[in-house]
Amino acid sequence: MPIHKAVITAAGLGTRVLPATKAVPKEMLPVADTPTIQYIAEEAAASGVTSITFITSRTKRAVEDHFDDQPELREVLERKGDVEKLAKINEPTELAHFSFVRQPTPLGLGHAVLMARPVIGEEPFGVLLGDDLIVHRPRPCLRQLIDVHERTGASVIAVMRVPREVISRYGVVTVDPAGQLDARTFRVLDTVEKPRAEDAPSDLAVIGRYVFTPRIFDLLETTAPGAGGEIQLTDAIRALSEREPVYAYEFEGTRYDIGDPVGLLTTSLAFALMREDMAPGVKAYLRALKLD
Ligand code: UTP
Repeated sequence: MPIHKAVITAAGLGTRVLPATKAVPKEMLPVADTPTIQYIAEEAAASGVTSITFITSRTKRAVEDHFDDQPELREVLERKGDVEKLAKINEPTELAHFSFVRQPTPLGLGHAVLMARPVIGEEPFGVLLGDDLIVHRPRPCLRQLIDVHERTGASVIAVMRVPREVISRYGVVTVDPAGQLDARTFRVLDTVEKPRAEDAPSDLAVIGRYVFTPRIFDLLETTAPGAGGEIQLTDAIRALSEREPVYAYEFEGTRYDIGDPVGLLTTSLAFALMREDMAPGVKAYLRALKLD
């Protein structure tokens, strides 16, 4: 079944990037000159998604505003005939059809995804985490997962190989060597959230892109709080993999995590260096630092 709908989660507290996130949503923090969540909505749209549901909260109103019209600004720019800046403010509003669902309490990523059930209904859908950026041109990460879903009809989760020293920061999958479809596509047998390095079943870490069949909602409804007292999406994926095929896809592309201060800064630098208009200035600054 083709995928038209996606959920972007953006209701977390963002405590690792305080004080920046006290009043500004983490997902609105700029990478180069663009809010992180705009790149993520662009990835969804470039993957063929036409309807995006954002999971937000009381402190995330700026997300809604960013994807809405801004008449005062638009009228000033129209009077000036500033076509370039007009395109900048109009582009996000034209990416897809948007809806917004509030998560009243940040009970966890699994709970955030469950909030989208009334909007998604009974069809397969994509999920993108609002603080994970993945760059791959011309086939975005979500598109790669949708391609696997179209081949298999199953749920698909993005995975990346990570060194053992950092594996305890991630959800990790156990895969079935006999169920491998190709070099990048593995049948999931089990998932575990943030295992100790010595207990990790593989080096395949779950990264913030997924395609789910609607069955995931039934499992989320009955998922009890797990690691950190939160309703974990990983726990519902484990339950799903016991009932129907779930594939892990080792995506092509580079992943940037803006969820901590160093990640936010280095991602901004990497994106600025990819931009023709920003790269010369940034490179000149870096050269002048004469770092050893
Ligand atoms: P994180 O694990 O990064 O949590 O969430 P967080 O609260 O945003 O950040 P820290 O750890 O306090 O710094 C991963 C994704 O899940 C969303 C977040 O917005 C982010 O996109 N999320 C998390 C929710 O939408 N609701 C939740 O209850 C928890």
